[in-house]
Amino acid sequence: MKTLPKIAIASIVLGFAVGAVSASPASENWENSCASCHGADGKAQTKQGKKLKVRDYTLAAVQAEMKDDEMLKAILDGYFENGKERMKGYKDEYSEQEAKDLVAFIRGLKP
Ligand code: HEC
Repeated sequence: MKTLPKIAIASIVLGFAVGAVSASPASENWENSCASCHGADGKAQTKQGKKLKVRDYTLAAVQAEMKDDEMLKAILDGYFENGKERMKGYKDEYSEQEAKDLVAFIRGLKP
């Protein structure tokens, strides 16, 4: 049997690794830490989400209201309204990169 050229093996391994890295962490983090309030689908139709009056992040109007840098800050440092904390910050659990990935994940939510 002819052995595969090294380069082919390397690209298969690399391609797999890249796919594995970009495939799920943000969606998994969302599921684990955020979905209880925001809903797995971002519509916030959960008990907590309704109680806390969380907005539906799949709506274009809501997406337009939010700014990426404010979203990132909210995820890391918490979300405040009139000095009152409405959501705690997650900087002890998530790195800035993971928080950025969560922002991108939220931007990808569709109605
Ligand atoms: C205990 C309930 C709860 C959990 C858990 C929660 N949030 Fe929130 N979140 C809120 C509330 C309440 C608000 C403010 C109301 C709103 O935006 O609709 C909010 C607001 C936000 C905002 C809006 C910031 C802006 O600029 O308007 C983002 C982004 C966000 N959350 C992301 C996340 C992410 C990512 C997670 C998981 C790491 C998470 N939230 C977990 C309750 C929660």
